[in-house]
Amino acid sequence: MNTIAEALQTARERGLESLDAQLLIAQAVRRPRSWVLAHGETPLTESQRETLTVHLQRRAEGEPLAYLIGQKEFYGLTLGVSAGVLVPRPDTETLVDWALECLAAAPPQPEVLDLGTGSGAIALALAHACPTARVCAVDMSETALQAARDNAMRLALQVQWLAGDWCSPLGERRFSLIVSNPPYVADRDPHLQALRHEPAQALLAGADGLDAIRTIVSQAPKHMLPQAWLLLEHAHAQAPAVAQLLRGAGFIDVTSRADLSGEPRCTGGHL
Ligand SMILES: C[S@@+](CC[C@H](N)C(=O)[O-])C[C@H]1O[C@@H](n2cnc3c(N)ncnc32)[C@H](O)[C@@H]1O
Repeated sequence: MNTIAEALQTARERGLESLDAQLLIAQAVRRPRSWVLAHGETPLTESQRETLTVHLQRRAEGEPLAYLIGQKEFYGLTLGVSAGVLVPRPDTETLVDWALECLAAAPPQPEVLDLGTGSGAIALALAHACPTARVCAVDMSETALQAARDNAMRLALQVQWLAGDWCSPLGERRFSLIVSNPPYVADRDPHLQALRHEPAQALLAGADGLDAIRTIVSQAPKHMLPQAWLLLEHAHAQAPAVAQLLRGAGFIDVTSRADLSGEPRCTGGHL
């Protein structure tokens, strides 16, 4: 693996997607991806070769690209991510779209809460797209909160970050909108093998994957202003169960929204 072209060939042989390989090489040679594509003959230095050998191997073993390059695009923002923090998914942009619709109909300067903020993806996307909103975000992982604070600082966005277990750090505070992409994978879900590089605390939620959602649905009402919405992301097969939990807790106008592949991935209602 002496040149960029040879590195691309090595990546192909290991079964990597070509976009992933290009991004890993671009990071190693500190050039844009477009430059990499046009300079296949460029020799790699010893340290670039060493970095790439490790990164191509780790990617081939399933480590998320975002951990290797240290960043992920979400809702038009570049977020820093590293091991210990869930990689934000494009599916979650459905939740942000719906939240922004709710905020458009909310009173001026709405108070918004993001429960289980991780890298800060949802909170920062809302603060960026709706500058009049006052956004507060909670996570119980100090690693996640540090990543979220760093992202906010780099993006110059204001969010109040709170450490704690779901609504416990909120006191008597009430919000116009509560959003959450909580853990929702069942403890024995066969997909967990593919997610093994991401923190279990961000993924697992009991035997049916609904433990975190049950807790949020039970705690949220006492932190909601009249007419406030609660929007929850979940796995597609969980939509009926989440709708039932919301109706059981007194929420009305309960509906689900589909992601880009047409699967119901968010369910919400208001009081
Ligand atoms: C699925 S991740 C979502 C991260 C981020 N919101 C996103 O969409 O990329 C769930 C997050 O909930 C946090 N979490 C898990 N249990 C929690 C709890 N009891 N209280 C607060 N946060 C919790 C995890 O640390 C993790 O960051």
